Amino acid sequence: MTLKTLILAAGQGTRMRSARPKVLHEIAKRSLLQHVYDTSKLIVGNEISIIYGHGGALVKQTLSNLDVQWIEQKEQLGTGHAVLQADGLINNEDIVLILYGDVPLLSKQSIERLLADVSEQSLALLTVNLNDPTGYGRIVRDARGYVAKITEHKDATEQERLIKEVNTGILAVKGNKLKNWIARLDNSNAQKEFYLTDVIEMAVNEGITIKTTQPERPAEVLGVNNRKQLSYLERVYQLDQADKLMEVGVTLADPARIDCRGTFISLGQDISVDVNVIFEGNNCIGDNVSIGANTIINNSVIADNVQILANCVIDNAVVGAGSKVGPFARLRPQAELAEQVHIGNFVEIKKSTVAKGSKINHLSYIGDATIGSCVNIGAGTITCNYDGVNKFRTIIKDGAFIGSDTQLIAPVTVGKNATIGAGSTITKDTPDEQLSLSRAKQISIQGWQRPVKKEQ
Ligand code: UD1
Ligand code: CA
Repeated sequence: MTLKTLILAAGQGTRMRSARPKVLHEIAKRSLLQHVYDTSKLIVGNEISIIYGHGGALVKQTLSNLDVQWIEQKEQLGTGHAVLQADGLINNEDIVLILYGDVPLLSKQSIERLLADVSEQSLALLTVNLNDPTGYGRIVRDARGYVAKITEHKDATEQERLIKEVNTGILAVKGNKLKNWIARLDNSNAQKEFYLTDVIEMAVNEGITIKTTQPERPAEVLGVNNRKQLSYLERVYQLDQADKLMEVGVTLADPARIDCRGTFISLGQDISVDVNVIFEGNNCIGDNVSIGANTIINNSVIADNVQILANCVIDNAVVGAGSKVGPFARLRPQAELAEQVHIGNFVEIKKSTVAKGSKINHLSYIGDATIGSCVNIGAGTITCNYDGVNKFRTIIKDGAFIGSDTQLIAPVTVGKNATIGAGSTITKDTPDEQLSLSRAKQISIQGWQRPVKKEQ
């Protein structure tokens, strides 16, 4: 017995009003289809197929890394027709799980509950009660409360439209049964479509019980049909992320103003996060880290006792223990700060290592540099690493002091404990321990007169 999951994703998604296929729209920087795939992957031994159609080439290309069978539905003739495309893949002994590529927040727990209800004698159906069931297929029950059939909104009678229990579309059933039923579907209905929902009545007629379960909360089974629903589910997802962070001991200034568009490889104790912080990619955050407002942290490692002040962008960087970054600092890829480094406002660091205890506190560009320990880099220092064609390294050894407004023309090395006078343009290596400077001598002109404005 194998579990085969079919993710229906062939629909066009007209109401998104987008050139992009609907299932490629994203929640937390992950496509809707990827969300559904990732959740179904959590069920061990699951073999997943995606039924694609509209914009299929782009969907396949974008998600080419997925471990799935791609099955094309050339014409979208309905959900039953979509499932029929996978008929050749389904064996009698299989359990088939039907999911939707535009229902991104379904939980693993709901899938597991559904699967527990499938047997030779029963079909498992996920339903939900909605205050406004407009548009959905209604769950019609008999006098004893057993599910008798599903009626699509467009085909429903006035009486049936009052029913608030609706079909989520998500179901699980034995392969032999499903194969038999989908072969017999017709499209004699309001939408001239082959409805998958018609299998429910077929099942009942064969004495199969329809076992219904409901998700923990309705948002799990909400689909995305337009941008408004997309943004709503994004917020639901983000509030969940915030809850998870708080559960593991992170303080959030406002759980409604944080976005996690990736994962945390590790999270330390007593982290505090101010408002409007965005986490992307895979991050590691240590103990006692505080993160200021309006900061973006992407694929980075932030060690223990780090203070990130407001308005920083930290991208593929490493911040060592006890360091202080910002406000308004930008750490670009391969910026690696050791312990107790201070990076202040309007400092940009790229592909550079900064050793323990060094300070770059104001208005500097440090690129392709190796900076030793206890170095002090004055305001307005620039490593001139690029000649328009090639990049070159700057090496600044331990204990060096770089005066403000210095340009270091790479390749160049500043010696250990060397001092560079402010306003210098350093083109040659400078010796250890000495003062180096390159500056025109200051002169003053006695008796000099300011020019006066000429008569017109
Ligand atoms: C379907 C259900 C309805 C349920 C609702 C829940 C049927 C007949 N109706 O209605 O009972 O309440 O979902 O949202 O099943 N798709 C294909 N190929 C097709 C048609 C659809 O792959 O030919 C895919 C779509 O991409 C989508 C899903 O199936 O992911 C549902 O299709 P949609 O047209 O939205 O179905 P509804 O009419 O909303
Ligand atoms: Ca729908």
